[in-house]
Amino acid sequence: MSRAATDPTSYDAVDVIRTKRDGGRLSGDQIRWVISAYTAGDVAEEQMSALAMAVLLRGMDRAEIADWTQAMIASGERMNFSSLTRADGTRRLTADKHSTGGVGDKITLPLAPLVASFGVPVPQLSGRGLGHTGGTLDKLESIPGWRAQLSNQEILNQLDTVGAVICAAGASLAPADKKLYALRDVTGTVESIPLIASSIMSKKIAEGTDALVLDVKVGSGAFMKTHDDAEELARTMVALGTDAGVRTTALLTEMSTPLGMTAGNAMEVEESLEVLAGGGPDDVVDLTVALAAEMLAGAGITGVDPAEHLRGGQAMDSWRQMISAQGGDPDAPLPQPRHQHTVTAPASGVLSRLDAYAVGVAAWRLGAGRSRKEDPVQAAAGVRIHAKPGDTVTAGQPLLTLCTDQEHRIPRAEEALTEAVSVEPEGTQLPAPTLIHRRITAEDL
Ligand code: URA
Repeated sequence: MSRAATDPTSYDAVDVIRTKRDGGRLSGDQIRWVISAYTAGDVAEEQMSALAMAVLLRGMDRAEIADWTQAMIASGERMNFSSLTRADGTRRLTADKHSTGGVGDKITLPLAPLVASFGVPVPQLSGRGLGHTGGTLDKLESIPGWRAQLSNQEILNQLDTVGAVICAAGASLAPADKKLYALRDVTGTVESIPLIASSIMSKKIAEGTDALVLDVKVGSGAFMKTHDDAEELARTMVALGTDAGVRTTALLTEMSTPLGMTAGNAMEVEESLEVLAGGGPDDVVDLTVALAAEMLAGAGITGVDPAEHLRGGQAMDSWRQMISAQGGDPDAPLPQPRHQHTVTAPASGVLSRLDAYAVGVAAWRLGAGRSRKEDPVQAAAGVRIHAKPGDTVTAGQPLLTLCTDQEHRIPRAEEALTEAVSVEPEGTQLPAPTLIHRRITAEDL
């Protein structure tokens, strides 16, 4: 890093903001300086907030995004799993997955132990939910005794012995992103492709995984509402990963309706257990298997069918070891809600729409999610889904069950669902739903 990038007096934050505000490009040194000075507290929150808005409105080119990502990686420590070896001394390549976030997206839960059951270590450093999308750690914390915080040494030991680790990303991993993400969250600057791509990839590259598959969601329940935006985000992230030497691929997947039949913490664990036992909803199984195949291929394993380890119980064995290794009791009963309320079908016919965003907001209002980082979540809160688009329904039949520990939350959750459902007359032919829209690899860039 040049001296200019580390010297707090070498640039003026206002000049950097003005350059981007007026549509100019930032130099590598300017980017390294502004990220390092912001992390150190020498660039004020209001200045970074103005810069984030300028980036959101003006964009960044590929070189700027790469410099921004590298600067955020350099703000903290990089993990290294190169000590993981086989008996013959050869390296065991690690594989990870990142989803851009959706409703009912519990895929990480069955996926990590499934991939580990093929001998590929999975370091899955995850986050908590904010807003309408759930967080993997919140889901797993509904398992009595399960612990999200592990030291780097514990992560390495568990990768070596069990193979799968799902835990909280430590404070020292890309601290610039932690600060910036919290700021973006309260300044309307989350929805910027360069900022999302650099935020996600700085953490994944710093984590040190060898292979990475990105599940880029598109639809009402996702950050990216259009295919064009989702594809641009996917390409940007695949380019960043590839340039950093990580074998990166992306799948563009549907998020206009929730994944599976549950959106809530404990209930998503329960559904993941069904998948690990060889059952579960088709969409959850299909996506888990497709992402597992990508991760295995990235780690050099091809010609296997991941679904066999769901049917054969190997993935469930891995799950049990992974949960026990982090203090959880895989046999403990999961929390149940104190109150339930049924939402019924408004008409008879074919359910043509069950809106992911509305279900996510309802689950959040029931207590499954949080509005502020420090808020607690309810393990048993959420929405159980009884019919999915394409199913025939009869007026008055149960469509959704709203679950919560606090009855007063139910009316606001129900309000979120007012426009969530459409029913077409019986016999209406709906287009076949597509779960995986396309795959993007380094060759597509
Ligand atoms: N997830 C992240 O980690 N960062 C973003 O900016 C958006 C989603």
